[in-house]
Amino acid sequence: MTRRVSGNKRNPAKRDKTNKLKLSYKRKILYQDRSVEVVLISWPKGVMSNAHDHGQSMGVIQILDGKIIQEVYSKKTRRFLKRSFHNRGQIFFETPDIIHKMGNASNVKTAKTIHIYTPKLKMMVYADSQLKK
Ligand SMILES: [Fe+2]
Repeated sequence: MTRRVSGNKRNPAKRDKTNKLKLSYKRKILYQDRSVEVVLISWPKGVMSNAHDHGQSMGVIQILDGKIIQEVYSKKTRRFLKRSFHNRGQIFFETPDIIHKMGNASNVKTAKTIHIYTPKLKMMVYADSQLKK
């Protein structure tokens, strides 16, 4: 299943008329059951996700193409912890104790990532005002 919904690059947390989150990136679920979810994400130039956690899921992400930027916050304190950049082939992890934002670090090239979550992802979205820089 491929889902493409338009969003606003400056405010990716916009919602549509049915209060569904409007994403500014393309998310394709490759596999899903109760235990695991595999997702392919295509990131247009310069697009960032909104801040989110991953519920109780552990996630592993590999960069398939392009360059990804990630900002990590503590879920407990909401404080900023680190910013990192990841290139093609690199892997990083999402753990239940963090909130993060991620996106395409490039303004000229699309990026692609593959995400594996266990159990199946149930994420919660945060407004920037809920985070401490
Ligand atoms: Fe995430």
